[in-house]
Amino acid sequence: MAFSPDFLQELAERNPIEEVVGEYVALTKRSGQNLFGLCPFHSEKTPSFSVSPSKQIYHCFGCGKGGSVINFIMEIERLSFPEAVEFLARRAGMAVPEQGHDPNRGRRERLLELNREAARWFYSQLSAPEGAAAVEYMRRRQISPRMARSFGLGFAPDGWSGLTDAMKQKGYTERELAEAGLAKNGRRGGVYDAFRNRLMFPVIDVRGNVVAFSGRILGDGEPKYLNSPDTPVFSKSHNLFGLNLAKKSKAGYILLVEGNIDVVSLHQAGFDSAVASLGTSLTGEQARLLSRFTKRVVICYDADAAGRKAAQRAIPMLEKLELAVRVVTVPEGKDPDEFIKARGPEAFRALIEDSENGVEFRLQRAAEGFDLGSDDGKVGYLREAAALIATLPDSVTREVYALRVAEQCSVAAEAVRDAVRQARRRRLNGERRRAERENTRPLRQSQPQGVAIRFENPASAAAEAGAIRLLAQSPELFRNGAGPNPEHFSSPELAHIYEAMLDFTRSGHECSAAALSSRLTPDEVGLYTSLIQEPVSAANGPRALADYIHKIEAENCPDDTSDLRAVAAKLKETKGYGG
Ligand code: CTP
Ligand code: MN
Repeated sequence: MAFSPDFLQELAERNPIEEVVGEYVALTKRSGQNLFGLCPFHSEKTPSFSVSPSKQIYHCFGCGKGGSVINFIMEIERLSFPEAVEFLARRAGMAVPEQGHDPNRGRRERLLELNREAARWFYSQLSAPEGAAAVEYMRRRQISPRMARSFGLGFAPDGWSGLTDAMKQKGYTERELAEAGLAKNGRRGGVYDAFRNRLMFPVIDVRGNVVAFSGRILGDGEPKYLNSPDTPVFSKSHNLFGLNLAKKSKAGYILLVEGNIDVVSLHQAGFDSAVASLGTSLTGEQARLLSRFTKRVVICYDADAAGRKAAQRAIPMLEKLELAVRVVTVPEGKDPDEFIKARGPEAFRALIEDSENGVEFRLQRAAEGFDLGSDDGKVGYLREAAALIATLPDSVTREVYALRVAEQCSVAAEAVRDAVRQARRRRLNGERRRAERENTRPLRQSQPQGVAIRFENPASAAAEAGAIRLLAQSPELFRNGAGPNPEHFSSPELAHIYEAMLDFTRSGHECSAAALSSRLTPDEVGLYTSLIQEPVSAANGPRALADYIHKIEAENCPDDTSDLRAVAAKLKETKGYGG
């Protein structure tokens, strides 16, 4: 199951980290060997994200994220380790060693290749004479060529066999074309193109595979969208259009809309976290997929009855997965694309921000949970409503909603105000206590940043980290079993890193970040890179090693040294040691 260190090393060599990262981050040379850019994993204005071509690692001095090229792809493409390996292998044109035995693997691979080829062909049709109508349509819808490229939009011309002929020439069979949903079986044998005279949107999954297509009619007509049927590589209910791009957004939320054009238009206007479900109302699988990439979803369906109903259905599904849900209602019955075209991106951003507290909507929803005809129901609702109103930062807004709720339940306004005040006090106290805990946490500085690892004994951890740095720089010092015993480390994570490095070093492998990343958790790799990122003085390695060993043993093996310490203390007392 595990990839060999040699394979991973080669994978890293054939995917130079500065090149791979450079596809996502603009890197510039600042000083020394490292390249710098704006961190793709947190928001910042000055570059603290560094890439070391020689060490083949990246490390952000701001948020602490770091690792090998494989970790980078895992993090930015949100892939598992084997998925990231596959992604990079494909990028470099390498064969991936067989992982287990999936008899359908070959067939699936073939269909994915066919889809990719088809997407290329559709794209190429945009510059053919037949594609003029599609280019004109995109121009009319104000879709920029840059967006067309990043979504891989294309055109299926109005014949019966354009795509089929082109793919057959590339060696794909009619059967494969039909299986991929790109062609349909004709009544009298043979196949014909499934998509004709449509603007083509490739559906790309989160691993970067072209899994299906949506074709939109140019102009008006029915059906507006034609989607690929479910195939061995595609299930409509498990995919979302645009998620391949939206998953990389730094917006902090995902914007769920109805139409593919809305998605493209939103991305173009800077809302790069927009996705659409593929002509179905949101499914449980799609909700789960979203929850892998975000904690917050902003629903922006059409304002008509169907849209509202779809939103009402989606909300509980998302909330069950602990996602925070907001609903944006676009005024004047417009869809997001029309609204942005008419009023500009800033106006749309304001809509999203207004939805932030979504009080109306949430009060309404809270009310639906209670029987307001009964006293019990009223009390329950008042309590929930007060807690909701208490989250509003503005006092006038709080007053407005408190009055409304009072009216709704026919109780005195003062009663609601009181309840809100109480809820607010509870909230503020909670926040203050949290802030105090944050500030007074001891030894914050000596803890690793950006990873979910805490050192119980920072003093010992410093020595353990020192040993790791030394091992990375001067492995020869650790030959013949020299070095501290990882069992004596105070930090299990540092011990794990150190042991993996020792294994590689002692078995004659290069201790590369890529190879290590197969043995370590992403957090451990992050910790490892932040350690080897710091420069170490090359002078007097043996002396440093002895100091580290001493410190680690002293901190963690009290039994061995307690006698010595007692003796030392005695000496100190009786002879006035140390003055
Ligand atoms: N739809 C679909 N298949 C898709 C995407 C959307 O069947 N791949 C359906 C949706 O379920 C919805 C409608 O098409 O009912 C979306 O319409 P709309 O929002 O109007 O689509 P847009 O792409 O925004 O088109 P336009 O704005 O040009 O009308
Ligand atoms: Mn639309």
